[in-house]
Amino acid sequence: MPSWFPGCGFQHIASKSAQGIKEIDTIPFDKAVNNLKMGNGTSLIAELALESEGDPIKLEKIKAMGTISFLAAADTTMSSIAAFLLTMTQHPDIQSKARAEIDQVIGRDRLPVFEDRQSLPHVESIYREIMRMHPPMPVDAAHLSTEDDFYQGYHIPKGCQVIANIWSFNRDPNVFPEPDKFMPERFLNSPTGPFTNINDIFAFGFGRRVCAGRHMADNTIWLTIASVLATLDLRNAKDDAGNEVDIPGEYTKTFFRHPLPYRSSITPRDLQARDLILATAKVD
Ligand code: HEM
Repeated sequence: MPSWFPGCGFQHIASKSAQGIKEIDTIPFDKAVNNLKMGNGTSLIAELALESEGDPIKLEKIKAMGTISFLAAADTTMSSIAAFLLTMTQHPDIQSKARAEIDQVIGRDRLPVFEDRQSLPHVESIYREIMRMHPPMPVDAAHLSTEDDFYQGYHIPKGCQVIANIWSFNRDPNVFPEPDKFMPERFLNSPTGPFTNINDIFAFGFGRRVCAGRHMADNTIWLTIASVLATLDLRNAKDDAGNEVDIPGEYTKTFFRHPLPYRSSITPRDLQARDLILATAKVD
């Protein structure tokens, strides 16, 4: 049916999406290859692409590898960081507790580094609770059953699509009492403590198709959380009359879940924190 036919307007959306995907597939890839050729920096994708010049099938595969890594990594990692920033703005008391821990363990002269992680259980608990309450993909990617199975009286035939409901697992009140409450202490005070295996973080999926980038994501998000807590103060914004602007704390209902825009105030804790932040900024 032509796209002008009543009910067929979705074809415009499909063709716009196809154009968007083509751009995601091409623009960063071309930039990476160009950077390498011009001596402006290297990357694995660009190096593989140069090695495979003249082999269009191989080149397409390398391009797809770059695209899928970008798509899988960018939205998800940003979703977790954005959820952390919003949640901390709503919980200044929890911010203060974690900050006191960082001050005590690390001091005020440097930013947190990975070697500090095991010494910061409060920070770890905040990270775990963010990943529980705000999984970037509330519904997991589809898996396929490799053999016939029975579960609670249901027959799951071989070849059946199975989609794990990460949202529901993370809000099981038998495992996480008061599941809609942000309570990092549930990890802090649990018998195992907060430093359990990364496979316990359901947000990264399950089994042989578990997130391939989870260690990178885990490191990126943890370091961001620790660095923000060490240096920044997250508060409600104030209106012209000096009253705090309310934060609705709403999220999108999309496949990748993100906080909806809100107003807040983000400032360095003090001058010492400001100097630490500036010292990490690249000055050319
Ligand atoms: C907060 C950050 C992230 C979250 C919550 C997340 C979550 C997920 C989930 C739920 C899946 C599907 C797992 C399953 O099928 O059970 C997945 C797959 C995948 N993720 Fe991530 N991800 C994150 C960051 C990243 C990063 C940083 C990268 C790459 C650098 C990445 C690369 C991938 C890839 C390649 C797959 C497909 C694996 C496969 O199908 O075998 N992800 N991710």
